[in-house]
Amino acid sequence: MRKRPRINRWTQSRRDLIFSSGIKSSLVQPHFVVSGKGIDEEIESMPGVNRQSVDVLIETIGKDMENGMSSHMLFGVVDSHEKDPMATKASDMEMPLQRAVLQLKEKYGDKIVLMTDVCLCTATDHGHCGILHDHEIDNDLTIPELVRISLSHAEAGADYISASDMMDGRVKAIRKAFENEGYTNTGILSYSVKYASSFYGPFRHAASSSPTHGDRKSHQMDIRSGYPEATFEAMMDQKEGADIIMVNPAMTYLDVVRKVADSVSKPVAVYNVSGEYSMVMSAAKEPSKRKAMVQEIFYSFARAGADIIVSYHAREAISEKWFE
Ligand code: PBG
Ligand code: ZN
Repeated sequence: MRKRPRINRWTQSRRDLIFSSGIKSSLVQPHFVVSGKGIDEEIESMPGVNRQSVDVLIETIGKDMENGMSSHMLFGVVDSHEKDPMATKASDMEMPLQRAVLQLKEKYGDKIVLMTDVCLCTATDHGHCGILHDHEIDNDLTIPELVRISLSHAEAGADYISASDMMDGRVKAIRKAFENEGYTNTGILSYSVKYASSFYGPFRHAASSSPTHGDRKSHQMDIRSGYPEATFEAMMDQKEGADIIMVNPAMTYLDVVRKVADSVSKPVAVYNVSGEYSMVMSAAKEPSKRKAMVQEIFYSFARAGADIIVSYHAREAISEKWFE
């Protein structure tokens, strides 16, 4: 089977995230997981978001869970000496990301929704999202690696793998592999409409995933591209078996979010990316000012048709009850 609509209904927490009305339940908090112990490093230009080792992350998410923040997106950060051209470490079950998922699922089971980032750029020494062949990102050589990474996340117990790579045909390949290996309730969130944006800077610093040369324009969408390509990408991923369709960045593409939401039947997510977060954080140092801005921003996402909002503001919005 290529499509399993039951995946989005599988647990109460998945249903609450996707189907309940209201902003609060639609929020997802991103995290950066690093190796080591007791690590809790601040990230330049992302106040309030830290790079954390598994032990600290478990504590952080523990507090979030107590506050009613139950959906989390995890990004694994790979040490530079462990990177290689094939992103070998990204599919290693001993890496912090996989270990964090295992431990969190053991602790919270179906009460937590865990999404795990699948791409090569955090684990390749050249920082590109794919395998290089003759200095170019080779789509079809990259797919098996993405599949391997996805399977390791599924094995660890992720609710959804989030494919952020923008290679053609990867949703189909991942879905097929999940079917073959018996992961019939693991979902795929696809970054279907991902622009080659200038708003990813702080993230690349946090995830140490900047390309050493060149850019991401041969796979991420051109910032000038409009609705035909966006809806094409979204519908293609839906057809290939994606369970959630995502647009990112969010604030500069609200028109695209609306068009995509009108075109697909699957739930739509937006990613309020790192540069968007930094802008607000530097403009609004006072919580009350921040509250007003974040409310206005999140309501615009909802109005544009987003069912799910991934945002670094999620934690503060929930703990400070900005949407109650
Ligand atoms: C990695 C990835 C990126 C983001 C999500 N996954 C950065 C990139 O494509 O360079 C952006 C997230 C953010 O800026 O917060 N493929
Ligand atoms: Zn990438």
